[in-house]
Amino acid sequence: MKKKIWTLNSIAVMVVAIVVVTAYSQENVKSVQDSAFKTNMRPGAVFLHDEHNGKAEIDDCGTCHHVYKDGVKIEDETSEDMECSECHRINGNTVTLVAKYHLRCKGCHEEKKAGPVMCSDCHVK
Ligand code: HEC
Ligand code: HEC
Ligand code: HEC
Ligand code: HEC
Repeated sequence: MKKKIWTLNSIAVMVVAIVVVTAYSQENVKSVQDSAFKTNMRPGAVFLHDEHNGKAEIDDCGTCHHVYKDGVKIEDETSEDMECSECHRINGNTVTLVAKYHLRCKGCHEEKKAGPVMCSDCHVK
């Protein structure tokens, strides 16, 4: 009897854990729409998170979700629980945040000569 109660409890814990993981799953990310941009001039950029990173063969989550200390990127540390704008703050001027997104996204596409570089290929209506 005692054993059975324990089992039911652990199932309940597992169910909660699965729901929490799904709610935060990057699989559901289909576009980028940073909440810091209060007025969106363009539609959010198309970005099928897992599919994109698989096709582009990006192994290091820190390529985008990076953590720096004293100007140096720390290997094996990531910040996927944060929006880019939580660190790259707008402070009344969206230009620098837009530049960070464009540098990371478009910059890699230009470097690899793969992936979209035209405005309307990312900001799809
Ligand atoms: C490789 C993909 C990519 C390309 C190409 C690209 N952007 Fe973006 N852009 C992004 C991402 C990602 C963001 C952040 C999206 C967000 O949070 O809305 C962004 C944000 C923006 C924003 C600020 C958010 C808004 O909608 O007001 C503007 C304006 C913008 N881009 C304009 C442009 C223009 C103009 C071009 C072409 C010269 C361009 N982008 C090309 C990916 C791209
Ligand atoms: C090419 C850049 C890039 C790479 C590489 C990347 N991510 Fe992301 N990820 C993003 C962006 C951009 C968002 C934010 C989307 C948004 O604003 O809604 C995001 C969002 C997330 C979220 C939050 C999902 C949500 O529902 O809000 C998680 C979790 C996450 N990523 C995990 C990971 C993990 C784990 C890896 C490595 C296996 C990874 N990411 C690699 C760009 C990237
Ligand atoms: C935990 C804080 C943090 C988060 C979250 C974060 N960054 Fe950064 N990022 C930094 C720091 C610190 C640097 C190095 C100093 C600098 O250039 O601002 C940096 C550097 C960069 C650079 C290269 C610097 C340059 O301009 O040459 C780009 C591009 C960039 N980040 C884009 C992004 C994008 C896109 C996201 C979201 C997917 C993101 N960052 C999330 C802290 C963060
Ligand atoms: C480290 C390199 C790298 C970074 C960073 C990167 N991309 Fe890409 N991206 C690629 C490559 C490579 C492809 C081409 C993949 C293929 O089709 O083989 C691609 C393809 C794409 C495509 C075409 C559709 C697809 O999924 O293949 C879109 C849209 C795209 N990227 C958007 C983005 C956005 C938005 C960001 C920033 C949040 C981003 N990318 C960051 C390398 C990168």
